Amino acid sequence: MTMRTVEVTEFGDAGTMTVSEAEPPHPGAGEVRIEVRAAGINFADIMQRRGHYHGGPEPPYVPGMEVAGVIDAVGEGVAREVGEPVVSLVDGGGYAEYAVADARGLLEIPGEMGFEAAAGFPVQWLTAHNCLHEWGDLEAGETVLVHAAAGGVGSAAVQLADEAGAEVIGTASTEEKLATASEYGMDHGIRYTEADFVARVDELTDGEGVDIVLDGVGGETTDRSLDALRSFGRMVSFGAASGEPGRPNTADLLFGNKTVIGYHLGRALQQQPMRVMGAVPELTQLLGDGTLAVQVGHTFDLAEAADAHEFIENRNSTGKVVLVP
Ligand SMILES: NC(=O)c1ccc[n+]([C@@H]2O[C@H](COP(=O)([O-])OP(=O)(O)OC[C@H]3O[C@@H](n4cnc5c(N)ncnc54)[C@H](OP(=O)(O)O)[C@@H]3O)[C@@H](O)[C@H]2O)c1
Repeated sequence: MTMRTVEVTEFGDAGTMTVSEAEPPHPGAGEVRIEVRAAGINFADIMQRRGHYHGGPEPPYVPGMEVAGVIDAVGEGVAREVGEPVVSLVDGGGYAEYAVADARGLLEIPGEMGFEAAAGFPVQWLTAHNCLHEWGDLEAGETVLVHAAAGGVGSAAVQLADEAGAEVIGTASTEEKLATASEYGMDHGIRYTEADFVARVDELTDGEGVDIVLDGVGGETTDRSLDALRSFGRMVSFGAASGEPGRPNTADLLFGNKTVIGYHLGRALQQQPMRVMGAVPELTQLLGDGTLAVQVGHTFDLAEAADAHEFIENRNSTGKVVLVP
């Protein structure tokens, strides 16, 4: 038996990914093999493919860190049923027809959610929930600034912040993206390519600034976001889609009593798994009963993984982008 898989053969642009045939992986002790029905694409997959990801995999490798599907085989010591629908983070190998996962990390698919939406649940929704609540200590009535508000993490963060009773300000590069983020519950949108987002936040908050910034963009956006943060505000830095890390000015931090908090899902899972996974019951309920929804913006065939990466890199995507084998 062989399966289709996508391989990054060398660091570089999306063209370095090729579709090939391989033997399906075998589940080891404590693992299950999942027949993948949908694989989530994350911006980190792109950073890894470019060779710009701290501690990322070396080519050749199969990318992909989350899948939804059905259990197809179980390894030694695993009490799970073949045929069970599951969603899971995987340690690479998600862009394939079969992937192995640690049985301890398998998640229930919330409610009646389909496989494509489920594949958008673990990485982006845990990140958004963790950054807002477990790391950012969001309280009802606070104001949150979400960068790339129409994106994967952004669309989750906007919905979760709105659900928690926050006032949500979002940024995006186009009016279409802002309109999309408004549908998710964003109260005020800023097209940062046209308007100065710090000045606009100033106007929207009567000169106070926001309580929390969620920043997955990095670079100048990070540095400038400190000016949009009120005294005693918190900025959670969780990514650098711009390709540049931010360099927050510590003088601005200390004079403003402001806090910058770093967040990395994978490392936090290794070191503080209970803190990360504590969000799962609430997320399962909110997504399962339809209060909130994973926004699947675009679906590509597995063989079109390179097109899907380019689509995201060119900033054409909204919500979650998913590969379907
Ligand atoms: N720390 C963690 O554990 C963790 C977990 C998940 C995601 N992340 C990070 O969170 C960020 C968002 O991830 P995502 O998967 O949800 O992606 P995404 O937000 O769906 O896509 C990235 C968005 O970033 C904005 N952007 C700004 N500058 C860009 C540039 N130079 N190139 C491309 N996009 C740019 C674009 O929105 P506009 O067009 O509106 O500007 C784009 O749509 C990424 O930095 C990712 O690495 C981190």
